[in-house]
Amino acid sequence: MMTDSSPARSLQAPAPDVPQNAAACASAEALALRDVSLVYSTDKIETLALDNIHMSVRRGEFVAIEGPSGSGKTTLLSVLGLLDAPTSGSYHFFGEATERLARRERARRRSQRIGFIFQDFNLIGDLSVAENVELPLSYARVAASERRERVAQALGIVGMTHRADHFPSQLSGGQQQRVAVARAVVAEPSLLLADEPTGNLDSRNGEAIMELLLALHARGTTVCMVSHNPAFSRLAQRVLYLSDGQITKETIADGVRR
Ligand SMILES: Nc1ncnc2c1ncn2[C@@H]1O[C@H](COP(=O)(O)OP(=O)(O)O)[C@@H](O)[C@H]1O
Ligand SMILES: [Mg+2]
Repeated sequence: MMTDSSPARSLQAPAPDVPQNAAACASAEALALRDVSLVYSTDKIETLALDNIHMSVRRGEFVAIEGPSGSGKTTLLSVLGLLDAPTSGSYHFFGEATERLARRERARRRSQRIGFIFQDFNLIGDLSVAENVELPLSYARVAASERRERVAQALGIVGMTHRADHFPSQLSGGQQQRVAVARAVVAEPSLLLADEPTGNLDSRNGEAIMELLLALHARGTTVCMVSHNPAFSRLAQRVLYLSDGQITKETIADGVRR
């Protein structure tokens, strides 16, 4: 399924996200959840979306998450991505406890270290492709002079340079998701979170997106991807299976990427 036409081949030499000093080396863990539960409370019902989750993700690891609809996959990603805080339990994000982080601090960690990719692309319709990709850089307060260069580079990585001035509605689904990948990586995040990124794509476009994720992983990015497609999650180094908010199974890849 690896196609020769992949734009991911234009990626530069790896820049792994490895710990730079002895203290950081003590923690090879990028993400660590301990006894994490999350309850959604609405008017009448409480839903236990995450039920005592215990998991960690190593720096530079590629983890896939599978499970039936409603099993808590999106909730888990939103906790990992600092969008939602657990109701109980602890979450360490790159060695830092997150429980006491103020909302603004969580937002800052997100903009500096996390890229998100969603099933439905989530591009902003009245911004051009280049403007969509530039957004995370303005949140991260990157100087305007540097933005243009980094947007161009990110669009190059996903093979969308020729559509920089188009609007999302003028693109196919596969192209829109490429732009969403560019937006997710333009700020060079340590962690890439993808929620069924190939769910709305035909198999050829799905494979192209999967190749991009694998190429980004090869550069050192830690990746957590929710997938309904076992052919894709099998390409991860580890697969976690969720059921009713619990991790019920875990498989380690045999190292052979087919
Ligand atoms: N914002 C919310 N408010 C209340 N319940 C929610 C909310 N988001 C998700 N849920 C519930 O939490 C459970 C897990 O949902 P979700 O994480 O979206 O599952 P998945 O992504 O595996 O389909 C489901 O029962 C869902 O209905
Ligand atoms: Mg979901």
